[in-house]
Amino acid sequence: MRETAHPTATSLSLRADGPLGGHVAIPGDKSISHRAIMLSALAVGTSEIRGLLEGEDVLATAAAMRAMGATVARIGDGHWRVDGVGVGSLLQPAGALEMGNSGTSTRLLMGLLASHPLTATFTGDASLSRRPMGRVIEPLSRIGADIQASPGGRLPLMLRGTAQPLPIRYRLPVASAQVKSAILLAGLNIAGETVVEEPVPTRDHSERMLRGYGADLSVEPMAGGGNVISIRGWADLKPQSITVPGDPSSAAFPLVAALIVPGSEVLIESVGVNPTRDGIIRVLGMMGADITLLNPRDVGGEPVADLRVRHSALEGIEVPPDVAPSMIDEYPALFVAAAFAKGRTVMRGLEELRVKESDRIAVMAEGLRAAGVRVEELPDGLIVEGSDGDPVPGGVTVAAHLDHRIAMSFAILSLAARAPVTVDDRSPIATSFPGFTAMMEGLGARLG
Ligand code: S3P
Repeated sequence: MRETAHPTATSLSLRADGPLGGHVAIPGDKSISHRAIMLSALAVGTSEIRGLLEGEDVLATAAAMRAMGATVARIGDGHWRVDGVGVGSLLQPAGALEMGNSGTSTRLLMGLLASHPLTATFTGDASLSRRPMGRVIEPLSRIGADIQASPGGRLPLMLRGTAQPLPIRYRLPVASAQVKSAILLAGLNIAGETVVEEPVPTRDHSERMLRGYGADLSVEPMAGGGNVISIRGWADLKPQSITVPGDPSSAAFPLVAALIVPGSEVLIESVGVNPTRDGIIRVLGMMGADITLLNPRDVGGEPVADLRVRHSALEGIEVPPDVAPSMIDEYPALFVAAAFAKGRTVMRGLEELRVKESDRIAVMAEGLRAAGVRVEELPDGLIVEGSDGDPVPGGVTVAAHLDHRIAMSFAILSLAARAPVTVDDRSPIATSFPGFTAMMEGLGARLG
């Protein structure tokens, strides 16, 4: 279990000696930050991005776009300037594209490169090298890219893009915004119309942002549910000045922390509440969470609000499986909330969780069980027996498995455990939330 830890692993354990309280700002949305760098690099001229997430995953995207000719410069805290080269004008990268832990960088950049006559090698860390890339290899091969992957369709892989890419019409076999986005990004440099049929809607940041940068993109509802998204190629993207809203996936951690630590009241500022991402707020609401959306507004073409959250007596529920795509990254945090609810919380329809940065069903089940929470692992989900508000036993060290959201989930669980829950390796947290520990300390949590 330990072979996955970074060589310089440092453990993390948090405790709460009393209620959590105060205001927190949440780092920029990871999905939007990746796309802002990529689209700015493809626009002709200078774009400015404010509120960019400066986590390792986004820095991997920035380095890749630099390696392909864009000028990507940090000019202040979260404030970046990008001089784009234009669709069709990316340069051949000199070395391998190092993707670190980032599945989003890998899959979206594979799409982008597929329709450019360039060759690139993609490499990643041990976690990323276990994740399936067949889901993008298949449609991108239809477009005409030649992709030589490691066994099982994994990294490292070599992608040879094509000078004569074909427009495709593709129905997504899995609900994946990364696969959808890979095809749409390829479509930017394909003559004619590239079409993605999405039977189950997923996060729509690519659609909003591609339109915002001037691409000719339409979204039509599909008979029987879902959307048909069409993009017309040889796009002429215009530079933008954009502000990235706070990431609801990062907000989930202080949100659940405040719900489970008695007496807490926390204000989380400027959180993205796009309806394709807000499932965690809706589900916690069904469980009886006291969460109020204040000051709703628009930031960078995305709905945003401040969230006021107070400690709550949660009720176990059957979480409707169709909510999964709108909160897929938030299940580890929801599992922690469920550990304090009254009764059972049943969560299903989560097979995609098994192919994230770790197998999040297995890893969370194992760690929760070790911390004294009764769980039943299902092939596609988890059943959690809650403590009805009592502290859970804790007193264990759990493995983060190179997965930032696993590390943060167990750090939060520790706040309402009788004895600390120690995460063996805090380093993966830097992929999406470099200031996590400091933010939790600002709310009153103590480092154990
Ligand atoms: C993302 C899509 C989701 C999500 C990931 C970010 C994106 O992945 O889990 O963290 O930015 O498009 P899938 O497309 O694999 O569901």
